[in-house]
Amino acid sequence: MTAAVVASGDVATSLTGRRVIVKVPATSANLGPGFDTLGLALARYDELEVSVPDASTAPDAPGLEIEVHGVGEGEVPLDESHLVVRAIAHTFARAGVPMPALKLVAHNVIPHGRGLGSSGAAIVAGVVAAKGLLEGIVDFSADELLDLATELEGHPDNVAPALFGGLTIAWVTPEGPRHKKLMVHRGVSPLVLVPEHEMSTALARSLQPESVPHEDAVFNVSRSALLVAALIQSPELLFQATEDKLHQHYRAAAMPETDRLIRVLREAGHPAVVSGAGPSILVLASDPSERAAAIALVEATADTAWQALPLAVDFKGATVQSA
Ligand code: HSE
Repeated sequence: MTAAVVASGDVATSLTGRRVIVKVPATSANLGPGFDTLGLALARYDELEVSVPDASTAPDAPGLEIEVHGVGEGEVPLDESHLVVRAIAHTFARAGVPMPALKLVAHNVIPHGRGLGSSGAAIVAGVVAAKGLLEGIVDFSADELLDLATELEGHPDNVAPALFGGLTIAWVTPEGPRHKKLMVHRGVSPLVLVPEHEMSTALARSLQPESVPHEDAVFNVSRSALLVAALIQSPELLFQATEDKLHQHYRAAAMPETDRLIRVLREAGHPAVVSGAGPSILVLASDPSERAAAIALVEATADTAWQALPLAVDFKGATVQSA
């Protein structure tokens, strides 16, 4: 992090009137074998406007004003516990700059509690909004942005693709989380299947065992290495490459319809996995016709309502513009 030399009293003044617009993609983490490591950015975006009102012209204005439209409207808190605000506060604290008064307007389309990275997107939106507001005052490196977002999210596999786009490999070092972004083969045609019910990531994580058999670890090392090759170069290997023994079967009882549909899809040859901690399903189809076949199969066999979202891979990650 590098800071421009600005007297602290001047920082508050120089933030007044700043306004940024942030766009953050949905993500799918794990991708089958890559537990807490692999993630994919998907072209469905939450958008956020953040501005610093001029206290001198509106002295009675609240220090924090939040509007939420779309997903989460009427449900998420509208105070300093709002996840985006917590991420902005965390980033300002790291920069050593006092939080100014803020107005936030969120337009959300990423479903909550479905395994599509909505909490990671909110955290990344806050970190990136703070970076935009602090432009010219403090600069953040890519590693620092990932570190800030991972501290709040707990693991880097959703926040890395939300920040950087594409396919990301994320790993943790003593100096903090790191990532490698890769482009995905243009045939890869992701399909997300979203049920009506939610699943808590905390509950899903509580179902993981403390240790796993060595042969299961070896199984996943081979499949996750293969999955990177399949996604960037050889989509015909996606079915074998999406096998997993580290997390999905431990969590299956908590999302039986997800488990059943994944079996149906895989028996028909589609590379279906749990998206993140679930309960959505990600099918990494090799081309658009396979994706259409998977949608038809789900429509014919699902016992409950599932929304089919054919989504392109996002290659840009989060963007911030001064407005
Ligand atoms: N890797 C995480 C998990 C993704 O499966 O618990 C959800 O945050």
